[in-house]
Amino acid sequence: MTGAPPDVHRVAAQAIDAVRGATDLPSLEQLRARYLGRGDGELSAHLRGLGAIGEREARAQKAKVVQELIGRVVEEIDARREQIEREQSADREAAEAMDLTVPPPRLRRGNLSPVTLAAREMQRIFAQLGYTVVSGPEVEYDRYNFTLVNQPPGHPARDSQDTFYVDDARLLRTHTSPVQIRSMILHGAPQRVIVPGKAFRRDYDASHMPMFHQVEGLCIDEGIAVSDLKGTLEYFAYSYFGADSRLQWRPHHFPFTEPSLELELACVACGGEGCPLCKHSGWLELLGCGMVHPTVLRNGGIDAERYTGFAFGMGIERAAMLAYGVQDMRLLYRNDARFLRPVVVGA
Ligand code: DAH
Repeated sequence: MTGAPPDVHRVAAQAIDAVRGATDLPSLEQLRARYLGRGDGELSAHLRGLGAIGEREARAQKAKVVQELIGRVVEEIDARREQIEREQSADREAAEAMDLTVPPPRLRRGNLSPVTLAAREMQRIFAQLGYTVVSGPEVEYDRYNFTLVNQPPGHPARDSQDTFYVDDARLLRTHTSPVQIRSMILHGAPQRVIVPGKAFRRDYDASHMPMFHQVEGLCIDEGIAVSDLKGTLEYFAYSYFGADSRLQWRPHHFPFTEPSLELELACVACGGEGCPLCKHSGWLELLGCGMVHPTVLRNGGIDAERYTGFAFGMGIERAAMLAYGVQDMRLLYRNDARFLRPVVVGA
């Protein structure tokens, strides 16, 4: 190649080869500039050289050939561009594709708290006996919490050591018993209700929390007797703790009932042999109950000549601990999944 311009056909063939070998759009654009660049492209430059051909016919002939070759190269570039773009979008799709057959990570499901589960189970059992659920305020009048359930001013249960007073007249209810009065006033007689709810006392150890839950129960009708009370609560205890549970009744005292009783369950830890949990008595207190004191009935607006009733109160945490074999009440509130998961799943 000594100064003579390279043969236009060879340049075009080179260009086409290079275009076919290009693997991305920038190098394709470089080839376009190199061969077809306005004026100085290796191929387009041949158009400029035409002026040197003197004979018109020959010039026109040559021009046609060069134009055709340029057209071919343009076609090749366009075709290659399309191909590269198609390949690139296929690559992108492949990179973004999801494998829908990959198994998902196992979801860890939350559990309801043992206290919620116990309360629900209790409601279910009492619903079978026709009890409906009622509720009352957690910030309660002293009058409802104490006076109207036979704990007048000066009664030891009013001790401010044990009670969270809000002001002179109000407190955080120390039990769910004030709802007995509210329910009597609202619903009259006859009625059968239970009251699951929070109660508050200044207590904190392995078997006491400052906030805990109780279920209060109240049954009022004509002719209600101690036998109804015992039948109802034994039905409950066998349903909740199992038909093979062992139960025992003991006389007791509460200001709002007369007579008063306590229902005990054979110790869940030792089966009645005697151990630290049952303080070597073999028995665990489950609930307090009794025949509603006539004064309390009258305080609720009930005709105590015509109607009698029984009432009971039970700690939900306590019952849950007995049912699930939990020794420390504080575990129920510690949100420790290592404890909560097996307790609930094992229930
Ligand atoms: N209110 C009592 C307490 O908090 C529990 C209780 C005992 C409720 C006997 C009653 C009942 O309705 O009859 O310890």
